[in-house]
Amino acid sequence: MQELAWYLTVLLVAATAAVFAMVRWQSDLAADYGGVQRSAYRIRDRLFWVLLGVGVPIMALTLWDLPYVRAGAPAAPQVVTATGFQWYWDLGRTSVVTGQPVEFQITSADVNHGVGLYDADTRLLAQAQAMPGYVNRLRYTFERPGKYRLMCLEYCGLAHHDMISELEVKLP
Ligand code: CUA
Repeated sequence: MQELAWYLTVLLVAATAAVFAMVRWQSDLAADYGGVQRSAYRIRDRLFWVLLGVGVPIMALTLWDLPYVRAGAPAAPQVVTATGFQWYWDLGRTSVVTGQPVEFQITSADVNHGVGLYDADTRLLAQAQAMPGYVNRLRYTFERPGKYRLMCLEYCGLAHHDMISELEVKLP
């Protein structure tokens, strides 16, 4: 995949450079551009109506889905306060349940930290900054029970790598 992206990039850069070179080369030629301008305007006019014809129905259809979260009594979030210290997390609670939003209220008692929320396979699920003097709110709804981890995502000193806390997610 990386290799494909590399070759594609080289190809596109070469194509762009070729267009630039052609424009530069042709800029010295005196030519009547009236015909080119007319056909360009024609294309532009058609494109306008095509975009209008496609865009307005798409907008009308998709607007019905807003807001994405249906109104009604929203589920009260399970609040987990997370305060970063050099070098540990102080969590207000270490156990939550699935299917109900969790709101992490994240701050720091000293320097900038970062909260990374990881699943059991160490896949990053969500993240937010932990800054002194601010409370950042990070919402996440767990679908599966299990052991999750909060790890510091911002280098904060000697034992940065040690800032790991566990969060247990249970079935309700
Ligand atoms: Cu706290 Cu890195």
